Amino acid sequence: MRITWGPDLLLGHRVIDGQHEELINLLNELDGAVAGDGPLLADVLRRLDAYVLFHFSTEESLMRSLHQPEWLAAHRDEHRHFIAQMAAVREQARSCPAETVARLAEYLTQWLREHILVSDRRLVLALNQHAAADRLASTR
Ligand SMILES: [Fe+2]
Repeated sequence: MRITWGPDLLLGHRVIDGQHEELINLLNELDGAVAGDGPLLADVLRRLDAYVLFHFSTEESLMRSLHQPEWLAAHRDEHRHFIAQMAAVREQARSCPAETVARLAEYLTQWLREHILVSDRRLVLALNQHAAADRLASTR
């Protein structure tokens, strides 16, 4: 299942939005590769995996500036869930039929969309409020 990048997924944070767009491009590549040959699929999974780790660590370090350790831990747990599912896709891609891998890839896509719209939206709202409060404080 392809996912269309569009205004509904834009959260209003330049860095996070840019990375989400790249992530969605990679998930769409995965969608295309699932039906294709093995080496291409392995290559997309490798790149997706690396980018996911990079993106999640960006979000988590931005989130540290909010000084809300419990919230950070909960958000990080969501990220870990995705990382575990990614590992399952990689594992299944070695031996399982294409439908299994396709189902898992679809799960990842839906999960990410939901995560962006709910958890990351809340995060960006808090980051932007925090930045606005900082700007206000610095003008006083
Ligand atoms: Fe996130």
